[in-house]
Amino acid sequence: MTTNSTVTMDTIVSLCKRRGFIFQSSEIYGGLGSTWDYGPLGVELKNNVKRAWWKAVVQKREDMVGIDAAILMHPQVWVASGHVAGFSDPLAECKSCNHRFRADHIEGNRCPDCGGELTEPKMFNLMAKTFLGPVEEEAAVVYLRPETAQGIFVNFENIQTTTRKKLPFGVAQVGKAFRNEITPGNFVFRTREFEQMEIEYFVKPGTDEEWHKRWLQDRFNWYPSLGMRAENLRLRQHGSDELAHYAKDCYDVEYLFPMGWSELEGIANRGDFDLRQHAQFSGKELNYFDDEANERYIPYVIEPSAGADRSTLAFLIDAYREEDVQSGGGQTEKRVVLKLHKDLAPIKAAVLPLSRNPQLVPTAKEVHSLLRENTDWMTQYDDAQSIGRRYRRQDEIGTLYCVTIDFDTINDRAVTIRDRDSMEQERVPIDELVAALKQKLG
Ligand code: GLY
Repeated sequence: MTTNSTVTMDTIVSLCKRRGFIFQSSEIYGGLGSTWDYGPLGVELKNNVKRAWWKAVVQKREDMVGIDAAILMHPQVWVASGHVAGFSDPLAECKSCNHRFRADHIEGNRCPDCGGELTEPKMFNLMAKTFLGPVEEEAAVVYLRPETAQGIFVNFENIQTTTRKKLPFGVAQVGKAFRNEITPGNFVFRTREFEQMEIEYFVKPGTDEEWHKRWLQDRFNWYPSLGMRAENLRLRQHGSDELAHYAKDCYDVEYLFPMGWSELEGIANRGDFDLRQHAQFSGKELNYFDDEANERYIPYVIEPSAGADRSTLAFLIDAYREEDVQSGGGQTEKRVVLKLHKDLAPIKAAVLPLSRNPQLVPTAKEVHSLLRENTDWMTQYDDAQSIGRRYRRQDEIGTLYCVTIDFDTINDRAVTIRDRDSMEQERVPIDELVAALKQKLG
């Protein structure tokens, strides 16, 4: 068997549309630029990514809790956090074609599209504004949060007093954030509406560098623990000119996307910047009493901040394979297979009667009910087209196991389990099917 595991973004975009992972938003109206909807398989995959993250960073640890804060926050939050003054990119516009560019992403002052002259760059704030209430006036302006992090910082006191957690401890959150990016693109890699998986980990000042190192390792290892190939991952430290206004130090976990190495997750040392600013702007004390050391201080923060959409895209790209396999007739044929980790695959098992023959269909439906009632997996039932085509379709969406009902089933009450990766088949009594699959899926 020969395998090709390199893939272009166009191939992934087309597979996502064809099989129902990701659609262009508002497509029937011509779409809205760089905005995407997750379809029936995409929502399962992305939920599995978020679930795996939550399990690793909250459920499996004793020093972490979760939160789900509102997207809309008091406008002063963004003044205190420095986003109103400093969350901007330099924008230059072409005087001929009016296309807009990130000035820090191009060389010289000529338009990359038409060669026209560019304006002097001016700073463009990335926060998306809206109005709350019935009047569109400055007093009603609120921002759609550009990071989920601030919902954690402003709740620091609430969380610490209700959970009685001692330092070091962290808070995790998954949620939407919005940035009015000048140049979104590369499918769901850079969009104006996106989902973050963020941790704010509060530590004693002076222990921050040690904790930063530990989180770098933990978070870097999370991606291969879900099957991502280590050779496609690297850690890169930010140069001083790249650091966000709040960061003392930052590393990115980068993935080798078809467009090159790009960020999956930033892991920053935010020092005490945010809690100090909020204490000053709100007039509330945001500090911690360390009863062992008998001292009060503002904790430092280590922030691992991952993109849920980017991670989902990277897992898809990394799982994509084209394989030459032997067909039944001895010929070689190509199969596309998504070798997604078992915890991420959207469909765990598909039930396939050999054909729509009325002798087979009732047993196949019975087997499908058995799986639905006795597991919490997403499963599919498919009886359209030839069995070979149905296997290929399930391979292409990463289904782990195909359960086939054939004419022998009627007599021996046994079915065949086909493994996605090895394509090996094993015969199992229907009564033992759930247990056999549960053992495989761990
Ligand atoms: N909270 C870090 C970021 O949104 O980039």
